[in-house]
Amino acid sequence: MKVLVIGNGGREHALAWRIRQSPQVNEVLVAPGNAGTAFESGMRNVPVSATDIDGLLAMARQERVDLTVVGPEAPLSLGIVDRFAAAGLRCFGPTQAAAQLETSKAFTKAFLERHGIPTAQYRVFTDIECAKTYVHQRGAPIVVKADGLAAGKGVVVAQTIAEADAAVDAMLGGDSLGAAGHRVVIEDFLVGEEASYIVIADGTNYVALATSQDHKRRDNGDQGPNTGGMGAYSPAPVVTADVDAQVRTQIIEPTLAAMRAEGHPFVGFLYAGLMIHEGSAKVLEYNVRCGDPETQPIMMRLKSDVIALYEAAIDGRLAEVQAEWDSNVAVGVVLAAEGYPANVRKGDTIDGLSVTQLPDVKVFHAATRLRDGVATTDGGRVLTVCARGESLSAARKLAYQRCESIRWPGLFYRRDIGHRGLR
Ligand code: AMP
Ligand code: GLY
Repeated sequence: MKVLVIGNGGREHALAWRIRQSPQVNEVLVAPGNAGTAFESGMRNVPVSATDIDGLLAMARQERVDLTVVGPEAPLSLGIVDRFAAAGLRCFGPTQAAAQLETSKAFTKAFLERHGIPTAQYRVFTDIECAKTYVHQRGAPIVVKADGLAAGKGVVVAQTIAEADAAVDAMLGGDSLGAAGHRVVIEDFLVGEEASYIVIADGTNYVALATSQDHKRRDNGDQGPNTGGMGAYSPAPVVTADVDAQVRTQIIEPTLAAMRAEGHPFVGFLYAGLMIHEGSAKVLEYNVRCGDPETQPIMMRLKSDVIALYEAAIDGRLAEVQAEWDSNVAVGVVLAAEGYPANVRKGDTIDGLSVTQLPDVKVFHAATRLRDGVATTDGGRVLTVCARGESLSAARKLAYQRCESIRWPGLFYRRDIGHRGLR
């Protein structure tokens, strides 16, 4: 089989790496890929952008691709799955209509409310004064969210009313986030601990992936600005068996049933960002794709043939399939470039990649580019260094040892990935 993976991040390297290990697969194409996917044997980068749907379609036809797996949300929001399906090509992911669970927060909040799925109380606004009146009524802390896709920059957790007012002004008044910010969701602040709960769904049935927890802030101790994610580990102990049961019956199953009932059956990775407090979970957000960096440690723990899962999901046969997970813990530490999450320094040569590979360690590439055969930095989150171990502390130790051997000017990373799991 020939499989195409769309995207160029750490998530896509991990997805492609796991797909390549299937006995059914002889080649994985990655569009556009990064230096890491270029180095893997049995993988080939194709220079087509993840949002060039026409280009991807033409390439998939020309290469006679058997199965396409979409990494990021942007091509899903552009309807890549609808376009590929119309052309008779097998493409794993949600349709454009089903992708609204990520592309519109207002859609999602209304959907959750309509179906009684636990989430923070909220209102939607396009008018500045009405939004501010609501903020003043509810008080702080309060959360202001841009409606549309804003690449992780659309959420302001305001500790004071003044901060919330400033966020409303910037989104509705200014053009700080463009059209994505011209409608805002204002919701109550939820206390608790976050976890990522990702399932693979076929429209009706689903298989839960191993649980995980991301670290969104840049600095140790969960300080500093928000980022796309500085590291992750799996499993997340906060998702106890009881929480897992509640998430399945009160969140995942009603969501899939309601999407089907409303005419948009959800096929793909459904990622619930959860806030868990006193053993009970609420939905903070839905994503319609895998998490980055959560996918990297999750794929380190998947033992089953991932192709069997994708095929069953596309064919509506997930009820017949199970996923087997390594009982070991996996940790992924993001190595970032100077300046991240703001303007980053790029183009530095990465040293220390070509040391002997250990079976329980894997370095996934994200923002890297090959220059004269050498991997160089090309963005904020450059690598995710992953390791597996019998315990979280063993996995962390192994991951951090590997981090020590990698160098470029301005490299930084958090030293406390997994700290909540150690408590
Ligand atoms: P989102 O993109 O909706 O997941 O929001 C990004 C981050 O903001 C989340 O990972 C949380 O840390 C935080 N956040 C979002 N909504 C809330 C909320 N209602 N209460 C507390 N924190 C929130
Ligand atoms: N790690 C958070 C996300 O992928 O959205």
